[in-house]
Amino acid sequence: MRTSRLRSVLWPASAALTSAGIVLAVGALMAPRAVAEGGAPFAVVTDKTVQTECGACHMAYPPGMLPTRSWQAIMGKLDDHFGENAALDAKTTKHITDYLIANAADAGGGSARRLRGVASDQTPLRITEMPWWIREHRGEVSPSAFKDPRVKSKANCVACHRGAAKGYFGDD
Ligand code: HEC
Ligand code: HEC
Repeated sequence: MRTSRLRSVLWPASAALTSAGIVLAVGALMAPRAVAEGGAPFAVVTDKTVQTECGACHMAYPPGMLPTRSWQAIMGKLDDHFGENAALDAKTTKHITDYLIANAADAGGGSARRLRGVASDQTPLRITEMPWWIREHRGEVSPSAFKDPRVKSKANCVACHRGAAKGYFGDD
């Protein structure tokens, strides 16, 4: 009730939103939920190599957002990475893979809760395809908001989540 009421106010026409408007709108929507859930931040990437190499084109996504098998699949084909060549030398690739899987949703950084709805034979390559991510955004963000020129893509978390770099996707 809370969010649907706010949503109709905040997302009437995404084209009219300024990027500051989007940030403020998200902040306003998120504050109550974050309090209700404790507002715990996601564990951010603390490894310098991962920060540098995986934060060059987009934010270095928190490893706890995907399961081990997803990180393995992503790291196994960096030369064909969502249309980009993100290939690294073997030593760096192994270092990053080890870090990501040690902190994956089903490992150290994780919460197995994030795997709910993912069949064991499925290997999502995107956080934005994970059922938990879809649940969190369904009804909260209009599909057109993701296409706003200042957002461009669902994968551009930082466009809306100002505190994302510090692990805050709730209240910042
Ligand atoms: C177009 C803006 C937008 C983009 C892009 C976006 N989000 Fe969100 N996100 C939201 C909104 C709005 C909510 C709902 C906030 C609420 O319910 O309080 C939300 C909720 C969330 C939540 C739940 C927070 C909570 O405490 O309830 C998480 C986690 C999250 N987003 C992660 C991500 C990640 C990771 C990405 C990038 C892969 C991303 N989001 C991209 C707008 C966005
Ligand atoms: C050369 C640029 C580049 C580098 C470097 C790069 N990526 Fe990406 N990555 C992309 C692009 C482009 C996308 C697709 C973004 C979109 O859909 O808007 C993407 C998407 C992703 C996604 C899926 C996001 C979603 O939609 O949920 C993950 C996960 C990811 N990258 C992980 C990594 C990891 C791990 C590294 C470090 C080894 C890395 N990336 C390095 C360009 C890059």
